[in-house]
Amino acid sequence: MDAAISPQPTPHFEIPKGVFAQTVTEVHHYTDRLFKFRITRPESFRFRSGEFVMIGLPNAEKPVFRAYSVASPAWDEELEFYSIKVPGGPLTEHLQKIQPGDTVLMRKKPTGTLVLDALLPGKRLYMFSTGTGIAPFASLVRDPETYEKFDEVILTHTCREVAELAYGEDIVRICKEDPLVGEFAGERLRHYTTVTREPFARSQRITDALTSGTIFEHLGVPKIDPAVDRGMICGSMAMLNDTKAVLEGFDLIEGANNAPGTFVVERAFVD
Ligand code: A2P
Repeated sequence: MDAAISPQPTPHFEIPKGVFAQTVTEVHHYTDRLFKFRITRPESFRFRSGEFVMIGLPNAEKPVFRAYSVASPAWDEELEFYSIKVPGGPLTEHLQKIQPGDTVLMRKKPTGTLVLDALLPGKRLYMFSTGTGIAPFASLVRDPETYEKFDEVILTHTCREVAELAYGEDIVRICKEDPLVGEFAGERLRHYTTVTREPFARSQRITDALTSGTIFEHLGVPKIDPAVDRGMICGSMAMLNDTKAVLEGFDLIEGANNAPGTFVVERAFVD
């Protein structure tokens, strides 16, 4: 195999400044388009649940880095990530071939807007995700602070196909069985899934479920009210824009780290 396209380190690879080189501990392929991987966590690495880091491989002099939300909670000893496999993608083409024992690069500084600090206090927290956009919420639903701040957490996940819901289903099950957060998540975390390109019990985009009100009917909750409801959005650029417009239609206002609001949008993938 050509060293330039191997996920393995090139023989004389020098770790760039400001980058951790970590070891892959687990890889699980969910579908031919989706996989998760776990890496060792540097002792000095701190992040807030919902933040993202830049991930790369030691396979080129100037490695390609892409934004990945940390999918594991802040208290976990390892770091978990959930990835799509982009055909011909400069990083994921190689990243999808990693095996336990391989090296993954991670820039040292986490960042992001999908954090609890960027939201004003409320009662019900909606986490709206499509595809791999569920990753930051996989971290947040396993963080006890989420349940300290909100009475009810509604995780929505919309995918093209039923098989693509599996990661989210695993996370919710793990969360409800977890000794640390299971007690809260068991009763207060709700998982609302929809599928758009295959037959399924709920077959709607989340934007349509919100504007038509079917999500509120299904969950038995009142429609979104800026006095009590908060939102977080993570998905493709088009999904972010459309869901943001829908939430603004419910009079929610976008927040940021320095100016908390009633909803926040993932800004990791903007250009
Ligand atoms: P659809 O199948 O109708 O395009 P993708 O893999 O393209 O990111 O899509 C993941 C999920 O997000 C799909 O179910 C897709 O629905 C949905 N989706 C795509 N674009 C939007 C959008 N602009 N608003 C809401 N949902 C969207």
